[in-house]
Amino acid sequence: MQPAVLVTRATFPDIADRLREYFDVTDNPSDIIWSPTELVRHLQGKQGVMSTGSERIDAALLDACPQLKAVCNVGVGYNNVDVTACTARRILVTNTPDVLTETTADFGFALMMATARRITEAERFARRGEWTKTGIYDQFVGSDVHGATLGILGMGRIGQAIARRGALGFGMGVIYHNRSRLPPELEADSRARYVDKTTLLREADHLVLVLPYSPQSHHAIGASELAQMKPGATLTNIARGGIVDDAALAAALRTGTIAATGLDVFEGEPRIHPDLLDLPNVVITPHIGSASVRTRRAMAQLSVDNLIAALGYGPNAGRPPTPVNPQVLRP
Ligand code: DGY
Repeated sequence: MQPAVLVTRATFPDIADRLREYFDVTDNPSDIIWSPTELVRHLQGKQGVMSTGSERIDAALLDACPQLKAVCNVGVGYNNVDVTACTARRILVTNTPDVLTETTADFGFALMMATARRITEAERFARRGEWTKTGIYDQFVGSDVHGATLGILGMGRIGQAIARRGALGFGMGVIYHNRSRLPPELEADSRARYVDKTTLLREADHLVLVLPYSPQSHHAIGASELAQMKPGATLTNIARGGIVDDAALAAALRTGTIAATGLDVFEGEPRIHPDLLDLPNVVITPHIGSASVRTRRAMAQLSVDNLIAALGYGPNAGRPPTPVNPQVLRP
């Protein structure tokens, strides 16, 4: 009998079909969002799960699903998975790094530019039919990106890729802060200078957040951090909801503490803090940082490869390409 696995969300059918070569697959083609209780019910008897950031995989769920051996999350972030609880039960966790780096960096840069140059605000104005007079010298004037100081909080692969775009493509001075400083060769490749967090907040004209979510990074940007930023600065969050205190951000935008924000991620998404929705100087996108067809396919493919290998099948049997807790693979 083939092992049983669960695919929690609708994905590319041709990619998910590869799982059927090895496993008895239960999937969710109608893309219903299951409650935690429904998820546990669907996971009964399953040895592996191809999950997404929408499902919380915690100790209570693991206790209710004792047959689970592998959690293969689609996404580079895996804050929806309690990795410690998985490791304690010798359950492998995998993610999908690298394949999304450049696509997500493109998006972060685009969101930062849209925010600085007030693109969506101007588009809404034009669509409403309010553009009745040409040549107004201060209409939708924003701030320059080229030559400005780009600040990056969280300097992993995506942060480094954004830094390269800023320095090489737009002549920006790039400063960054990270838990640990990059080795000199990566700093040189990124054309970025390490600074402490206070300097980052004070000097950045455009601050982009790319750090992982954890209890330590919860509200890393709140009222006091926003108060340290330049009044003309922009803040772009492509990392995770909860890293920014969205209520404090809305207040800072309303009072002119900073100029504008671009947000792809939100506390409690898909809900969006109502105060942010009311403000003109907020560019909003629904968590689409990695959403190019090629990259989303590559992420699904990598997750499938991980699941097949994690359960001991395929050419990489026992050697999943991107484990998060590889220690569980050791005997
Ligand atoms: C990621 O890869 O972490 C994206 O945010 C999708 O969840």
